[in-house]
Parts: sequence; C-alpha cells; structure tokens
Amino acid sequence: MRYIPEPFKIKMVEPIRMTTEEERRKLIAEAGYNLFSLKAEDVYIDLLTDSGTNAMSDTQWAAMLTGDESYSGGRSYYQLLDNARELFGYEWIQPVHQGRAAEKVLFPVLIEKPGQFVISNTFFDTTRAHVGLAGGRPVDCVCPEGLDSMHEAPFKGNMDVGRLEAYIDELGVENIAGIVMTITNNSVGGQPVSMANMKATAEVAARHNIPLVIDAARFAENAFFIKSREEGYADKSTREITKEFFSYADIFTMSAKKDAVTNMGGLLGVREEGEHVPDVRSLVISSEGYITYGGLSGRDLAALAVGLVEGLDEDHLEYRLGQVAYLGARLDEFGIPYQRPAGGHAIFIDAGKLLPHLPWNGYPGHALAVELYIEAGIRGCDIGSYLMDRNPETGEEQQAPLEFTRLAIPRRVYTQAHLDVIAEALGEIKKRAEQVKGYEITWEPKVLRHFTSKLRPVD
Ligand SMILES: Cc1ncc(COP(=O)(O)O)c(C=O)c1O
Repeated sequence: MRYIPEPFKIKMVEPIRMTTEEERRKLIAEAGYNLFSLKAEDVYIDLLTDSGTNAMSDTQWAAMLTGDESYSGGRSYYQLLDNARELFGYEWIQPVHQGRAAEKVLFPVLIEKPGQFVISNTFFDTTRAHVGLAGGRPVDCVCPEGLDSMHEAPFKGNMDVGRLEAYIDELGVENIAGIVMTITNNSVGGQPVSMANMKATAEVAARHNIPLVIDAARFAENAFFIKSREEGYADKSTREITKEFFSYADIFTMSAKKDAVTNMGGLLGVREEGEHVPDVRSLVISSEGYITYGGLSGRDLAALAVGLVEGLDEDHLEYRLGQVAYLGARLDEFGIPYQRPAGGHAIFIDAGKLLPHLPWNGYPGHALAVELYIEAGIRGCDIGSYLMDRNPETGEEQQAPLEFTRLAIPRRVYTQAHLDVIAEALGEIKKRAEQVKGYEITWEPKVLRHFTSKLRPVD
C-alpha cells in the first residue's frame, strides 16, 4: 500500500510541543512509569484511545452553534432522534453522556436475578464492570481464531456460536439475562463481526428468548469491513448494512465518541418500545437528566446528529480503515508482530512476541508502551496482564491470554507522516528489544489498577 486517500483538507491546526528523549525519560519517571499520568502536552502522538479524541468536521462545528439548549423537547434532540431512527430502525432512542452511561441504565433492568450470566463475543471493560455491578456474571465467548494473533481471518471478532449454545445448555436458559455483540470487537484488536455470525447469534437468542444487545461503539467500521470482506455485501451501502445488522438485535448501547466522531456522547436504542423502556427511562432521569438531553448539552446533541451520518460516509471509512491497514503494512516492513489483520481503530502489537525475554508479570505490553514514549513521545497503552486486576477472591495476579500494546488511532487527527514516525520508532525499538526492561508495580488501587498504579523498571 503506497498512500491513503485522505478525504478532507486541514483548515485549523493544534501545535504540538516537541520534547527530547532526555526530557521524556525524566517525565515518565516522574509519572511513576504510568502513561495515564503524563500531561497530554508532553506527548507527541497520542494513541492512548480513539474515544472522544476525534477531529469534528466543519459541518459538526456549525451544527454546535445552532444547538438548542432547552431543558425539555429541544430541536437538537429531535434532529438526533430523526437521524438515529432512520439509520438503525429502532423505535426508542435515548441520548446519554457516553457509552458506559447506557450500560449503567440498561444492565440493572436486563439482569432480573443476582448471579445471572451475560454472554458476549468479548466484553469491553466498562460493559463487563456494569454487568458485575448489576449483579450479573460476564462470560466471554469469542471464536478461537480471535485469540491467535498470527492467524489471518476476515472476522476474528465473531461470537463462537457453538460455544454460546453449549453455555446456554450448561448454565440453563433461565440463568442467562442477555447476549452482547460488541462491534467491532475492541478487546481482541478491533476485529469485525460478520453479518452471517450476527444472524446465527440472533437465531440462537430468539430460539431461547434471550435479549440480544449490540455494543455498537464502532458500528460504522464494522459495516465497512462487512462491505469489503463478506460475500454478497460489496454492492450494499454501509447504511443498508447497518440497518440490516441492527435489525437482528433488540437493544443497542453506543459510545458515540468513536464512530459518531464526536468528543462526547452516547446512545441507547430499543427496537420495539416494550417492557424495558419505562424502567430504563426512570434510571436515565435519575442519573443522566431529563430524557430529551440525557446528560448532554444541546450543542453536543447537534454534533452527534451530524456525526452519526458522517461517520458512515464510505470515503471516510475507506480512509479510516486504510490508515490503520497502512500502519500495519509499515510494521510488516520492520517485522513487528501484531494482531493480524490490522483492526478497525487500532493496531494491537504483540509485545509478548516482540519482547520474549520478559515474563508476563514483567508486563511486556506496558514495557513496550513506555519504551515507545521514550523513543518518540508516542503514547499507547497495555492491553495485557498489567491491565488485568488481581483475582478479587485470592488477590493473585491474573495472566492475560495475550500481551498487547494498543495503538489506537483517533479519527482525522494524524497524517500519514505521523504513522511513518510510529512505524520507524517501533523499528528502532526492535533493534534493541532484548535491552527493554520489565516493570513491577510499587503501588496499586484495588480495582482498575492500570489507570493509577505506580511502577518501576526491573533490572
Ligand atoms: C466497545 C466499547 N464499549 C463501550 C465503551 C464505553 O464507552 P465510553 O468510553 O463512551 O463510556 C467503549 C469505550 O472505549 C468501547 O470501546
């Protein structure tokens, strides 16, 4: 791949302060070797997340100025409702302040008895946490190829439908509160889910009368993967694909900070306004605010209404997925192992393979992320054993199935030249890989430790 067609031009820029390697060594030591503790202004290329870090279009910014800030029944709410209903075909659409707010109001309603299970192709951290907080038990059920970073397959985010059936038989259908399909499957590398897999999952859910929920943060990237990889969809538009995909589920939660290209926002949708809606609505009013603003300003609702439509634009999606694939192709030149093929929003470098001298509890994914910051001021994060909290019953450390360093690419923010810097910096690290040190934790909180722990390098 030689170039990425970038379907926009830049009319406003944000300068980045450049730092030296010596400064970065000092800054990361002062931050307790925790990348979250760095000041963003000390980072050159920030790949910590693609969430809320997108560049909005001039149309979105213009819509913000026309945002209606009424407490109830504002115009921006109705614009959002019209666009979302049209795209997804769902009757009830609820704005919320971000994805986890939708999870917080949905799972207490879905989980009727403590101890019920919710099964997913892989839960994102906050979704997993909200299932637990609502008294449920999350179970991951991704297809086996999703856990083999070197195995090339078009839809590595798929549900293992055979195992899903087996779980339902084993656990008892009365003990299953829901099934969650995460698109794309963030935790296994932004890997997509095929339409065929969604249909097969929906068939199992319907046969057992279990609600099927889409965790839809990256619905547009998933639609474009289906268009480009799945037989029978090449001539369908991403809008048509999205409508069909959502028709197989009952409910969706969405962090709009990803594919809806906004800096803040989320949605909850219910296909047929039935039994769950009054309960969910009460929880929204008590925690998010009145239903026609759901924790957002009118201007945020207006930007989201536009972003939902723009995020599905096929030139944008070709560029978006092309950018991540381009970075993957550049990493191939340097022989850097990553979850293959490149995902939709991020490259997940297989740090366990790149730094084989480090044990899992020396946190290879974290060690590589720190090294990349020191090398070139690039900030990624660990998706491996450092991210895993301790076993709450035994207090023991838990080993992740894979030791990844995630480089998440914000939308429309970095150019091809930035991507080249990332690849070349990793190439430099590979030359001295055996000198990269592991880490140990010197202080950690009880949960979600990777955000606030302090660490030190191990000699
Ligand atoms: C798949 C998925 N679901 C849910 C969320 C939570 O969304 P938010 O950060 O808007 O609360 C995220 C955020 O990264 C995500 O990637």
